[in-house]
Amino acid sequence: MNVSVSVAESLRGALAGLLDGVPPRQAAGAVERLIANYRGATPTDAPILRDRADVAAYAAYRMPATFEAVRAALEAFAEAVPGWVPGSHVDVGGGTGAATWAVSAVWDGERPVTVLDWAEPALALGREIAGANPALSGARWQRARIGAGLSLDRADLVTVSYVLNELTPADRGALVDAVAAAGQAVVIVEAGTPDGYARVIEARDRLIGAGFHVAAPCPHSAACPIVPGADWCHFSARVSRSSLHRQVKGGSLAYEDEKFSYVAASRAPVLPAASRVVRRPQIRKGQVLLDLCEADERLTKATVTKRHGDLYKAARDADWGDPWPPAER
Ligand SMILES: C[S@@+](CC[C@H](N)C(=O)[O-])C[C@H]1O[C@@H](n2cnc3c(N)ncnc32)[C@H](O)[C@@H]1O
Repeated sequence: MNVSVSVAESLRGALAGLLDGVPPRQAAGAVERLIANYRGATPTDAPILRDRADVAAYAAYRMPATFEAVRAALEAFAEAVPGWVPGSHVDVGGGTGAATWAVSAVWDGERPVTVLDWAEPALALGREIAGANPALSGARWQRARIGAGLSLDRADLVTVSYVLNELTPADRGALVDAVAAAGQAVVIVEAGTPDGYARVIEARDRLIGAGFHVAAPCPHSAACPIVPGADWCHFSARVSRSSLHRQVKGGSLAYEDEKFSYVAASRAPVLPAASRVVRRPQIRKGQVLLDLCEADERLTKATVTKRHGDLYKAARDADWGDPWPPAER
């Protein structure tokens, strides 16, 4: 079994016991409260995750999806920095630690890990479930408030997943400046919505201004070719649902697709993809239609037909979010 799959399974196992003894109605109620809070007026002045019931509901309801989105972003980053392995990791606004699990799924071995969050119950539960992941045995779970004056210890990798959404514009700027000052590599993930994409682009501009190179998803560190308001760059990660997940979220599908936007950047030079597939490929009889973001700052459409031989076979296997063409990697 590859490391990524086994980490995903350990996470699922660690989450499975969380709602033991909590009646399904109560679990569903906590999830509904959480959704209402997240739909409400974030940013808030105080943590949304206030107690163990909130946090258990968050972990059961959202953590499998945030884990898969961050893992996909980290895998795209890893492809653009072959051979690089983070020697240390700081996860800001890390909550129950989904990104720390994702890092351990992409890069084998142990490293110093610090999770920062202002919600103590989230840190406590994160620490508890991390007991199921040997790579996180030495992780530090620390309270910290994101805002002006935030200063972070230096780390090879800094992750910020699904956090910018909860901050004021001023705090978002302060956070991105702080992670740029602390990290050799920075990976930021947000929901795959027009607003999530806008927050990612703002962070991307700030990272480039601080001297970073974009490793993924963009094939370049120049301006994004998407016309603001016309479209948004986002990707999709498949999340398999446990029976617990189905119980908490309702529905009977065995999986769901988590849409996310991200930027992964490094201070060191990177080898970004020549171009990237930015929509789900459309397979027609004898041809595959690919929407690509290109290194020369353009969005293009490519039609790959049987006449292209091996490239056609590769196009049939290509997925939304993959580098293109694969042979150049
Ligand atoms: C949606 S959760 C994401 C958690 C985790 N990063 C993940 O991907 O699953 C947002 C997290 O940001 C934290 N957060 C929000 N505002 C914060 C602030 N001002 N200071 C510290 N943490 C904050 C919340 O407590 C919560 O754990």
